[in-house]
This record gives sequence, structure tokens and C-alpha cells, in this order.
Amino acid sequence: MQSLTLEACAKINLSLDVAGTRPDGYHLLTTVMQSVSLSDRVYLELDRQGNGLILLANDPSIPLDERNTAHKAARRFLDATGVSAGVRIFLEKAIPTEAGLAGGSTDAAAVLYGLNELCGKPLSMEQLLELAAKIGADVPFCLTGGTVLCTGIGEILTPLEAFARVPLILVKPDFGISTPWAFQRYDENPAAIHPNHSKLFSAMQRRDLLAMQEATANVLESVSIKAHPILDSLKQHLVDLGAGMALMSGSGPTVFGLFRETAHRDRAYAALEQRLPDGYRIFSATTRGQGLRII
Ligand code: C5P
Repeated sequence: MQSLTLEACAKINLSLDVAGTRPDGYHLLTTVMQSVSLSDRVYLELDRQGNGLILLANDPSIPLDERNTAHKAARRFLDATGVSAGVRIFLEKAIPTEAGLAGGSTDAAAVLYGLNELCGKPLSMEQLLELAAKIGADVPFCLTGGTVLCTGIGEILTPLEAFARVPLILVKPDFGISTPWAFQRYDENPAAIHPNHSKLFSAMQRRDLLAMQEATANVLESVSIKAHPILDSLKQHLVDLGAGMALMSGSGPTVFGLFRETAHRDRAYAALEQRLPDGYRIFSATTRGQGLRII
């Protein structure tokens, strides 16, 4: 029996624009994705003598069968490599689900990467990325992590200069938002404000959070905030407490605030903790240069 434990990071979107729709209904995106330190732990066991796929998790609300992206990842890996073995996966979830943080996608990426390591690297990174894209639009990014411009449906990756070690706060309200729902609503009511990516990139290089705020946008905010106006108040709270930039991540509902200094972030965290309604969750984090780490 061989085993491996990975840390699988959540992501935030530092921008998100919709450039069009594919015939299959998927949306063409231009989005800057960024790994953050909020992470799940993924334990993997490979039994060369055994067979079958067992998935367990510490969160009773997530499915443990083929609907789970980690399960899909293991199945696809075994099918693609022809490896015959028993696989056990245990997910220790910390990333909230239906949150816009790619929690399911990062677990899938960890399973692909981890199984490949355990099996002696039968697949190249390119092959892993191909499998990842079949599991979900955010899985390729989660496999590489860091700071990446994602286009296509999110699977075409262009690495950007690292934007690591920036302190942030994530606030997850007590409701979830389904990604298909958000994209559907967006089609009915497209946004008027779009990110200016060239301005955003130069602001990111200068680490000028205020200029980033000016340049960026997440076009899905228009639908999510319309359905849940509290999201706008949460963003405003973060700015009032000193965040240089605040935005919704992905299709939401998580909103995040970026801070210049760790001390500012910690003060804002303490203040927010007192004010948030019951059921809301708050996380202190930093941006990271990688999405997966073997621990
Ligand atoms: O690929 P993933 O399973 O994460 O996507 C979930 C859903 O989000 C898709 O079924 C689709 O409705 C929507 N989506 C989209 N365009 C994208 C990514 C996701 O329309 N680029």
C-alpha cells in the first residue's frame, strides 16, 4: 500500500469577463485566477493488489459517488493509464462548497496529480491537463495554480507574474450559488462593466490594489448581487475596513478583500468576525504561488 497527502488550494478570480458562448452552452471566459492558502487535504492510498474506488469525506453534504469531481478524477486517471489498483481517497474539506472557490476542482486536481506521483508518473503534465479539462473548467488551473490568465472555457492557461503573499479575507455567506444558474442569468442580462485586463496586469505588477480595483470587474457580480444584494454590502464592509480591492470570486457567493499589510487584514478580520450574521463564514488567507503541495 502506498499513500500520499496533498494540500489542495482554493482559487479566487481577480477578474472575470465573459467573451461569448460555445454551441454547447459553455461560456468563453477571460479571467485571472489566483491560488490562495485556504485549502483542503486530500489523502490518497493506492493498493496495487486491490481494486475498486472508495471516496470518503469529513463533510456529509458532498456526494461520494461519481458525481464527486475527486471520484471522476480517479476514474479518468485509471482509465487513461490502464493502471489496475484499488484507490482510497479521503477528503478533509475546509473550502466551502458552491462558493466560487473551486473547492471541488482543486480536489480533482490533487487526485490526478497525486495518483500520477504514486504510480511513477505515467502521464506528462500535458496529459494531466487534458484529463483535467474533461473533469471541469477550473481543474486545469488548479493543477498548475499560482497566478494565471485563463481563457477558452477556463482551460487555456497563460501564466502571469506571481502575485503571491498578498493578505486577504474571504467571506462566504450562508447560501450557495450554482454556477450554471449564474451563467444562465448572465445570458439573459449581460453586464455593462467589463474588466480592463491590460490596466489590471500593470496594476498587479505594481501591487497597486486601488488601481487593480479600478481596472477589474467580475461580470457575474451583476447577476449574483441582483439576487443577493448583501454581497454588495459585504464588499463595501471589506473596503471600509481597509481592503484595497474587494470583489466576488467566480459565480459567488464568496467575496474577498485584498490588503496591503497582514496587520490590516488581521484588524479587519477581528472587526468583521463581530459583525457577520449567523451562518456566514470568514477565512483569513494569503495568495499563493502554487495550487497543490505534497505534504
Ligand atoms: O466545468 P464545470 O463543471 O466547473 O462547470 C459547471 C457549469 O458552469 C457548467 O455546466 C456550465 O453550466 C457553467 N460554465 C459555463 N462556462 C464556463 C464554466 C462553467 O457556462 N466557462
